Amino acid sequence: MAKSTFERYGGFAAISKVVSAFYDKVLDSPELSKYFETIDMRRQIDHQTKFMASLMGGPASFTNQELERAHARYSITRAEFDEMLELLKESLEDFDFEDDDVTEVVQNFSSRANFVIHS
Ligand code: HEM
Repeated sequence: MAKSTFERYGGFAAISKVVSAFYDKVLDSPELSKYFETIDMRRQIDHQTKFMASLMGGPASFTNQELERAHARYSITRAEFDEMLELLKESLEDFDFEDDDVTEVVQNFSSRANFVIHS
């Protein structure tokens, strides 16, 4: 059977490095950093790694309902969502993900917009 994207890029250890680099960019972003001022980033990176793993066919899952619950108290705009998507794309490219894999992950992430944007 073909290996999942998750396996091809080295599993949880490798994906958590990408996710850490992604959040470094998020925290450097004037539009996005305000959301994370009081957030425990270690825990955040763990959760987001699990989410990314699920997008790549790895052994983890995050339901849309959980996503909705995590973001319901914020007023995240479409523009902020798009900014985050762009930073994710850059992070995957920085780690030499192939174009097709970047597209797949970004599309998957993008398809959850309605569970995250509440504005
Ligand atoms: C498809 C896009 C996104 C996904 C998949 C995603 C995923 C996640 C996940 C898995 C968590 C952890 C939930 C938990 O602790 O149970 C989380 C929390 C959080 N996300 Fe997102 N996120 C997305 C977009 C965004 C955007 C665009 C922002 C801000 C502009 C944002 C801000 C936050 C914040 C502040 C938390 C912490 C929640 C808390 O502990 O109160 N997220 N997100």
